Amino acid sequence: MLSISESTKIRPELSLILRKVLEKITPKPNEEEKLQKVAEKVCEEVREALNGLPVPFSVEVHGSFAHDTWLSGDRDIDIFILLRECKPKDFLQEILNILEEKLPYQFEHRYAEHPYLKTLIDDVEIEIVPGYYIEDKVLSAVDRTPRHTRFLKQHLTRELCDEVRLLKAFLKGIGAYGAEIKVQGFSGYACELLIIHYRSFLRTLLEIANKPRIFIDFTKTWTEKEAKKTFKKRVIIIDPTDPKRNVTANLSNQTFLKVKIAAKLFLEKPSDTFFFPKEAILPPNELLKHLQERSIILVELEINPDVSPDTYWGQAKRIMDKIQQFIRKQEDVYLYNIDIFEGRKSILILLETNTKKLPLYMRIRGPPVWASGRDLLNFLKKHQKEIGPIITLGPRIAFITRRREDEISVANLLKKFISTIKIKPSFLTVNVYDSPNDILEIVSRENALANFSHFITGKPPWLPEL
Ligand code: CTP
Repeated sequence: MLSISESTKIRPELSLILRKVLEKITPKPNEEEKLQKVAEKVCEEVREALNGLPVPFSVEVHGSFAHDTWLSGDRDIDIFILLRECKPKDFLQEILNILEEKLPYQFEHRYAEHPYLKTLIDDVEIEIVPGYYIEDKVLSAVDRTPRHTRFLKQHLTRELCDEVRLLKAFLKGIGAYGAEIKVQGFSGYACELLIIHYRSFLRTLLEIANKPRIFIDFTKTWTEKEAKKTFKKRVIIIDPTDPKRNVTANLSNQTFLKVKIAAKLFLEKPSDTFFFPKEAILPPNELLKHLQERSIILVELEINPDVSPDTYWGQAKRIMDKIQQFIRKQEDVYLYNIDIFEGRKSILILLETNTKKLPLYMRIRGPPVWASGRDLLNFLKKHQKEIGPIITLGPRIAFITRRREDEISVANLLKKFISTIKIKPSFLTVNVYDSPNDILEIVSRENALANFSHFITGKPPWLPEL
């Protein structure tokens, strides 16, 4: 099991760190009281505003505040209005209209699978989400939430809540917490289920560090083999309230690999930096020196403010994949690193390659000698104006050709390629920079110097001193 108290005997240094972290991330009683008060006040106001609704309903708090797995400093409360009868989906919007009219708050309209309201009350972020709670029926994603709360309340003890907090804080620290497309990591609910299954933070880390796959099925519906075939994921956690759903469907392979590495390193060299990463911003002259010496290119995608983060992050990641494939196709360019982050108004994609300038002459690889005579001849005909055929290096025919002047700069090639891919609706403009001064200027303007510094040093902010 390896709970914190058990780890004291085996690895006292580790358990000391966990205790200290826990003290920082566990909400203090006054913090809890404040949130509780706000939650009660808003629930009451919502109930009153909806008094007279022609359907039975309840107003309930769900999410991590209700489960007691929230982290100190996080100030958000999820309030659900649950209808006990089926009504058309427009009805949910009508409920929100009534609330907007009657409650004295400034609301932001949000839309996930269906509409909800968001507002700030006494420094606490409140989300008001309407849905249904009808036995045996899940009409929308929201409707699972009260079932989750019921399951978690039955299975989470006080000690386990501490273990959940540790896991959430660890994943948050290494940038792997949250199922949204920006992160593609573990949701809060996934953390809660992992702890219920493995019983402790350390055991969960050990499993993630050492197992190539994770398979947890609370419903005992699936064999591992069938689940693997159906869900096609390395991590499968079947939702205890819905056997058809993998709770970690949004977890990307890359994020899982990152968690694996961080887990291995933490278990080998425990440190609180995994939980509380240290931002290290390099001075501008140092950044400039790196930019001058290395081959770094910046792609800046200007965000359309009318588009939601999940949409523009999804599109940005697809654009990044395409850039990666394009660079990999260039014979003389090696991709050393690629990263993506959000600035004030733009998504920034940074790449480091072996060179910013390609050689004037390049090789064109042709068919191997075992190709048909016709194919060989066609290749020769097509390239007859180039230098070749070269038949001295292995079984393939090749030619040597002079590049066009405007195809020598990798940034130019990339610019041309990007002009062929779709950036709408998420992005208004796209720019490619390879000049050190331009890159530094854009990154500073976008308030992204911390992320940029970590890209330059290659060291994630959670990595402890080695
Ligand atoms: N939920 C879910 N799957 C997700 C995200 C959310 O099922 N990928 C449901 C869960 O029932 C969860 C609730 O929505 O309990 C609220 O989720 P959210 O507000 O995103 O996070 P919390 O679990 O409250 O965690 P925290 O606020 O600590 O990040």
